[in-house]
Amino acid sequence: MNSFIYDIPTKVYFGPNQLNHLGEELQKYGKRVLLVYGGGSIKKSGLYDKVVKYIKESNLELFELSGIEPNPRIESVRKGAKMCKDLNIDMLLAVGGGSTLDATKWISAGACVDFDPWDFFSKRSEIKKALPIVTILTLAATGSEMNSGGVISNLETNEKIGRQDYHLLPKVSFLDPTLTYSVSAYQTACGSADIMSHIMETYFDLEKDLYMLDTVMEGLMKTVIKYTKIALQEPDNYEARANLMWASSWAINGFIDGGKTQQWSCHAMEHELSAFYDITHGLGLAILTPRWMKYCLDDTTVSRYVQFGVNVFGIDENKDPYEIANEAIAKLEDFFFNDLKLEDTLTKLKIDETYFNQMAQKACKNSSIKGFKELKPTDVENIYKMCL
Ligand code: NZQ
Ligand code: ZN
Repeated sequence: MNSFIYDIPTKVYFGPNQLNHLGEELQKYGKRVLLVYGGGSIKKSGLYDKVVKYIKESNLELFELSGIEPNPRIESVRKGAKMCKDLNIDMLLAVGGGSTLDATKWISAGACVDFDPWDFFSKRSEIKKALPIVTILTLAATGSEMNSGGVISNLETNEKIGRQDYHLLPKVSFLDPTLTYSVSAYQTACGSADIMSHIMETYFDLEKDLYMLDTVMEGLMKTVIKYTKIALQEPDNYEARANLMWASSWAINGFIDGGKTQQWSCHAMEHELSAFYDITHGLGLAILTPRWMKYCLDDTTVSRYVQFGVNVFGIDENKDPYEIANEAIAKLEDFFFNDLKLEDTLTKLKIDETYFNQMAQKACKNSSIKGFKELKPTDVENIYKMCL
């Protein structure tokens, strides 16, 4: 195991009826709160009214920024950062899915600088401070509630870029699984595909001495497979929603990677799909992941597929290694495309080869993705073609 620092100071309130702590937590950071949310799901569910009530009861001053888009845009970040400066905002309250949380993170950093927030991505401008962030999560997927990352899209330049910074970690996150009862079957499926991918990007690695973390990851993957099926059948099954929500946080908060240094492959390839075609992140990952697995399977990697197939899908370990590997990929496809009912090709999303070359270069940052297997632009292009 490599050396690493694990430092996630986000305080988590997990479970229903925890929101009565919202006021006391917000009061720690000042008086003026900017509430950030998306396209209106929190109004439909009644969560908005509850949040406003708690804020008012705590004698805090409330300001609002709504309309954060899925695949949040840099324009929303710019708008939010300006509001924070103009209104002297003390803290941000993000209520929604990963898009709202991610936008809020970059608004909080943008509020503290006098340059365009896109410079954080295009010029890697330094983040010296950010306004404090509190989150109320409504969709189990990205882990943004308990990590320091945020992904922002710039449609003018066809870019979707993620970056992490310690200053962006939420101070407090409220995780109430009942808030995810209203998530559609499609977004539930995409969210679970995303959680699954966060684990798989870390799990498919050739470092050998991570037994403890391998075991945790296998448990997390089994959790996602078991409980997504239940959540799709019974959207208000608390046990299912709770297991998915907590799995989403631990899949990508730094715990399971135990100092691993390899780059993620499917996320690099998917961010280009979203950047060019504005597709849902989890859907892109579901289409890419089995093809990436097929592409990377060889004598140097097959042992990892065997461990995955045996420990996650219960395939007979006495079978031939390649038979286990291919069966494991088929079972993953069955999960994504039959159980989750996600589209299984890019063609069905009306995506063709037009930009594959350009997207592949960008995914590799004109070099290569140094992941489970190193992928050069031609490899990435081949994987995109396998998805047609
Ligand atoms: O906008 P509203 O009206 O709230 O509706 C949203 C949106 O339409 C809806 N939704 C959310 N909670 C709901 C709900 N609908 C009904 N009931 C609820 N309780 O779901 C739709 C999708 O929401 P979004 O926030 O876009 O989904 P998700 O959480 O999957 O976030 C995706 C974004 O996060 C990025 C992705 O690239 C994408 O931009 N990621 C962020 C990461 C991170 N911060 O660490 C890592 C991930 O790998 C990922 O890249
Ligand atoms: Zn993801």
